Amino acid sequence: MRTEASTTAAPAAAPRTRRRIGVGVIGFGWLGQAHSRSLQRIGTLFPERGFDAELVICSDPVPARVEDAVGSFGFARGEQDWRRVMDDPAVDVVYIAAPNMVHVEMVEAAAQAGKHVFCEKPVGGTPEQTVRAERAARRAGVTSGVGYNYRWAPLVRYARELIATGELGEITNYRGRFFSMYGSDPLGLLSWRFKLDEGGHGVTSDLLSHSVDLAHMLLGPITRVVGTTATFITERPVALPGAGHYGRGAPGDPTGPVTNEDYAGMLCEFASGARGSFESSRTIIGPESQMAFDVHGTRGAAAWNLEKLNELQLYRLTDDLGSGYTTVFGGDRFPYHGHFVPGSANGIGFEDLVVIEDYEFCRSIAEERPHAPGFAEAVEWVSVQAALLKSVQTGRWEPVVSLRED
Ligand SMILES: NC(=O)c1ccc[n+]([C@@H]2O[C@H](COP(=O)([O-])OP(=O)(O)OC[C@H]3O[C@@H](n4cnc5c(N)ncnc54)[C@H](O)[C@@H]3O)[C@@H](O)[C@H]2O)c1
Repeated sequence: MRTEASTTAAPAAAPRTRRRIGVGVIGFGWLGQAHSRSLQRIGTLFPERGFDAELVICSDPVPARVEDAVGSFGFARGEQDWRRVMDDPAVDVVYIAAPNMVHVEMVEAAAQAGKHVFCEKPVGGTPEQTVRAERAARRAGVTSGVGYNYRWAPLVRYARELIATGELGEITNYRGRFFSMYGSDPLGLLSWRFKLDEGGHGVTSDLLSHSVDLAHMLLGPITRVVGTTATFITERPVALPGAGHYGRGAPGDPTGPVTNEDYAGMLCEFASGARGSFESSRTIIGPESQMAFDVHGTRGAAAWNLEKLNELQLYRLTDDLGSGYTTVFGGDRFPYHGHFVPGSANGIGFEDLVVIEDYEFCRSIAEERPHAPGFAEAVEWVSVQAALLKSVQTGRWEPVVSLRED
């Protein structure tokens, strides 16, 4: 089986010189820690890299997190004030993994300081903020990256190749879903994600953004949408600062209001002519982390689901109609997989996708070439989000008007 860039476990030749990339990380929760670990793992997994990432400074308002960053992760120093990251001349790249509504001022400060910037999705909590972030990076001439990590899954890359080469025929239908149970327990804490002023929009920003970004990569732009949103759990136990994504309160704890949406559903049309549907929920019961798609063409179909990251369901139309889906197992014949484990059906995991993402972002910087997905791709998603939110207000189909300025 040939793939776009098959990799094997055979070590590649190391370059004679490597560029040093000093990294500052802002926000040291789930994803701040995941990127910090991942940047350190690149050295042992990608011998052909042309750079060495160095953990210079970490910032988080919670002192215990800063201590952990220095004491356990090996950052040279830590600060509670994120502006110190921008002042540090040893920092070439800023990684932003703080709550969404503070992204844009951090991106603007990083760009002004001439630092390259990787911001976790969705880059700001509103479409306007994402547009501002893209403008700041473009005008400063710095490279941007965004954490749409599912793009890098080896079997998703393979699906993209099957679509791009016409193996599935002309694509007619696409279904994207991101169902997570992280908010399904009413005692789940009122973390920043459930608040408009800290997280920005709710599940559209948090989960649907991933689904639509992936569809953009696989099928191209969306031209019009009609949709609906809902908030099913309207009050939650109040959280202390730094409380985790999956934290839980107790019955009788003080509660506060949820101020953004738990659910979003959307029908759409792609520029290619394909028709699509998307659903996202953070309060659904059953699917625990289904970031998934089904794509159907005139000659075949493919389906992938994060819950089974190392499997792709593939249907190839043959003369014998009704052959059924077959399971393709992940393995080192697919892009990147062999960097982690050799052979076939030896699985990789969620954080390995973050390693690939960080490797490709730092590689773009070291090679001084444009990077995707960057903030321009983040603006493609918020253009769809703006149309969806408008449709929720009007109750009608709405055109997707590109918010890109470049
Ligand atoms: N790509 C993915 O799969 C993925 C998964 C989870 C989260 N994310 C994104 O990563 C970002 C962080 O999410 P998380 O789950 O890691 O959240 P988290 O709550 O686990 O961590 C956020 C951290 O930011 C810190 N923080 C809060 N305000 C800050 C400020 N002003 N300056 C610096 N730090 C601040 C908090 O103390 C906390 O340690 C969000 O944008 C989220 O959308 C992406």
